[in-house]
Amino acid sequence: MTKSLARRNGADFRMPSDEELDSIAAYVLSIGRAEDFDLKKLKLHSGSARRGQKLYTDTGMLGEPGHKNCNSCHFNGGGTGA
Ligand code: HEC
Repeated sequence: MTKSLARRNGADFRMPSDEELDSIAAYVLSIGRAEDFDLKKLKLHSGSARRGQKLYTDTGMLGEPGHKNCNSCHFNGGGTGA
């Protein structure tokens, strides 16, 4: 974590050791989901979450009112666009 926006190596931060990098990688790989789910098929319980899901996965024209199209840019890897 840098101490100032000057971001001077050795003064504002130091580079992590290989052991620290390995530990961070192990931590990041231990959290989160192991497999991607199909966002469009995901069953959500709350009405507002379902509205958000509809907006997020909407595929309409971005420039038209009511279309957010988030998923067209924010999709998981794997080529399904889900
Ligand atoms: C046209 C492509 C595009 C669309 C559509 C889009 N985004 Fe993004 N979004 C981006 C890009 C590119 C970034 C990264 C911007 C950056 O880092 O400067 C981003 C960043 C974000 C971030 C910040 C992520 C982070 O790690 O800080 C959030 C949250 C986000 N978008 C949510 C949404 C939501 C919600 C929608 C729909 C309402 C949406 N985006 C629609 C391209 C898009």
